Amino acid sequence: MDQFSTPVAWVDLDVFENNVRELAEIFKAAGVSWRPHFKGLRVPALARKQIEAGAIGVTCATVSEAEAAADGGIDNLLIANEVIGDPDLVRVARLLRSGSTVITCVDDLAHISAISRIAQAEDVQWPVLIDIDVGMRRCGSEPGAPAVALCREAHGAPHVRLKGLMAYEGHTESIEDPTDRRAAIEDALELVRETVELARQAQLPIEIVSCGSSITYPVTAHHPIVTEIQAGGAAFMDIMYRNLGPDTTRGYALFVRGTIISRPAPDRAVANAGRKKMGCVFAVSADDPGEFSLLPCPVAMPAPLGLPGARVKTLNAEHAVLELDPSAEARVGDPIDFIPGYVDFTVYHYEQLVGVRADEVETVWKVEAR
Ligand SMILES: Cc1ncc(COP(=O)(O)O)c(C=O)c1O
Repeated sequence: MDQFSTPVAWVDLDVFENNVRELAEIFKAAGVSWRPHFKGLRVPALARKQIEAGAIGVTCATVSEAEAAADGGIDNLLIANEVIGDPDLVRVARLLRSGSTVITCVDDLAHISAISRIAQAEDVQWPVLIDIDVGMRRCGSEPGAPAVALCREAHGAPHVRLKGLMAYEGHTESIEDPTDRRAAIEDALELVRETVELARQAQLPIEIVSCGSSITYPVTAHHPIVTEIQAGGAAFMDIMYRNLGPDTTRGYALFVRGTIISRPAPDRAVANAGRKKMGCVFAVSADDPGEFSLLPCPVAMPAPLGLPGARVKTLNAEHAVLELDPSAEARVGDPIDFIPGYVDFTVYHYEQLVGVRADEVETVWKVEAR
């Protein structure tokens, strides 16, 4: 690893592969398909390892991610998001024409009519899921009758293929009490179940019900209505998944290697990896940060390795300020590894990701769709 400028992002391949195997087994045992989210991973070669282990494809947040995954040989793609605007719709249509399966989400008649228009023009059949809001208050139709009305429209629209429903129960992830969290997830999935039943009573084809995350999967994967799980970041693990996610022995597979650039005081050292290389802020609400369903930094501060008792006290744009035991051996020029706070805010900062096995560099990948 000495040949790389720091900060550099790297993956412990043995740990990653173990995590992937374990997750694939969990979902297989639960009788549910696994379509891991690609938004944090961003390297098709790593996604292909997930598929070799049993995943059916990948979930993406953007058209660019879907294109990168398709370029990397992955042909079963769900964009778990609304896509609108002719330039982006045409890009999806081109992926469909090239033979990839690309499913997109809709929560409005405007999506369905735009997709139908582009799909006819490009002569493709375009599969969609109706996105329903089960409590996150982001995108998504109201569950129940409004969602079923959209299902009906999608089913009847030329060149549009209704495949099912998508619901992301992300608002439950910050609920600390496990019993309360389970109840909130079950409430959210009950809305999905009711909507699926109404749609099926109306003879509408609901083949896919896609939900779940690295934090909610222990409940969601076992719900009988759910057919596939989107959990992605759990394959890397990070501080947030450790703090909020299920109890697991899964190891950390993603790291950022920085360098100690200053040791201005016995109890303080500074590394050259700040928020622009390992982000920690999720999202903010203009009204009340505490009200927002996702969480502020403390659950996702990067953790320094190799210096007992050390912690990141402050993350500036380009600096991690470390609080140290004064006896800590942290010299200017020393390398230092961090476990990222949240993988989603890490890999995309880098042009490349280094794959390491048994302390040897095995490969260097380009990070796609940044
Ligand atoms: C639509 C959607 N599904 C699933 C997830 C969960 O992804 P992960 O398991 O990587 O945390 C997210 C996270 O932001 C999401 O937006």
